[in-house]
Amino acid sequence: MINPPYYASDSRYNNGMKYERCGRSGLLLPRISLGLWHNFGDVNSLSNSREMLHFAFDNGITCFDLANNYGPSYGSAEETFGRIMHGSFRPYRDEMVITTKAGHDMWPGPYGNWGSRKYLMASLNQSLQRMNLEYVDIFYSHRFDPETPMEETLQALVDMVRQGKALYVGISQWPYEASQFAYDYLAAHDTPCLVYQGRYNMMDRNKEKEGIVRQAKENGVGFTAFSPLEQGILTDRYLNGIPEGSRASIGKFLKPERITPELVAKLERLNAVASKRGQTLTQMSLAWLLKDCSVASVIIGSSSVGQIRDSLGCLNNLSFSQEELREIDEILGI
Ligand SMILES: NC(=O)c1ccc[n+]([C@@H]2O[C@H](COP(=O)([O-])OP(=O)(O)OC[C@H]3O[C@@H](n4cnc5c(N)ncnc54)[C@H](OP(=O)(O)O)[C@@H]3O)[C@@H](O)[C@H]2O)c1
Repeated sequence: MINPPYYASDSRYNNGMKYERCGRSGLLLPRISLGLWHNFGDVNSLSNSREMLHFAFDNGITCFDLANNYGPSYGSAEETFGRIMHGSFRPYRDEMVITTKAGHDMWPGPYGNWGSRKYLMASLNQSLQRMNLEYVDIFYSHRFDPETPMEETLQALVDMVRQGKALYVGISQWPYEASQFAYDYLAAHDTPCLVYQGRYNMMDRNKEKEGIVRQAKENGVGFTAFSPLEQGILTDRYLNGIPEGSRASIGKFLKPERITPELVAKLERLNAVASKRGQTLTQMSLAWLLKDCSVASVIIGSSSVGQIRDSLGCLNNLSFSQEELREIDEILGI
């Protein structure tokens, strides 16, 4: 079937999206980025993936977050993105920030995992081919490798930038001390770390407790939050059981055992706080992360255009009273 040509909406920068500087850099990120970890693989509907990407871009979401192994199958989310790049996004390439990563299991044998120069360089070349791109905007080390000298991983990042295959680099899920080493090393090699990507949301405050959010700020590094909705828990998705097709029903990354009656009772109370603010639970959860500038962008996941539309609505109200913040903490036992 031939798809009608895509023309990005003329109002894409007048739809309410806000942009925030990523650390001490020139790069502005949309406060909401779209991640392709789930729902963009070769097991998913290409037309739904396409609709979500077009809708996101039409609404000012300029940043798309990928990794080599997103799918399933591994690599297929990048292939989906590559098809859309080829078919419709190409004229808008310079309006986009496209990211990829390597660090987790990707291909068999000793060179398809962790943080060696051998793996990272080969992986980026493969990602560029799959996505039909000459360069990515941000390349991330997807995780800290305790067995590879940090200098090797970090020098590979520096060299990717020097080769023109990445414009900026970042780290994801690195521990505190290693992150400081990375910030210092990259700065000393004229490739300042642009961004730390970490798991952070209303329920999971570890990155705050470990000092990683503050450390990024002190080093002029932007912080972006992934799984801002705790994989769908911090939405209305599980208020009435586990729907067919939901992430918890698939059970690989979000175990259905997590959806306990105690959790649902908390979610109902959070939902009531959100309603009082005139928001959905999804919107309040995202607004909570975006209430100050310590999080430059939240990287949402989505399985439908409707979910992205709901998420975008958070931008209408990002401020919280002290009372609301206290109530959220009390409900979550924080
Ligand atoms: N650096 C890393 O190590 C790392 C790790 C994980 C993720 N990430 C990045 O972060 C991105 C987001 O992660 P995530 O998918 O876990 O994020 P998330 O936003 O916490 O969860 C997304 C899921 O929440 C549900 N959802 C979203 N909006 C909803 C709405 N309005 N109403 C009801 N349910 C809604 C959907 O679940 P259903 O699918 O059930 O509909 C969706 O797939 C990834 O795509 C990836 O780019 C990075």
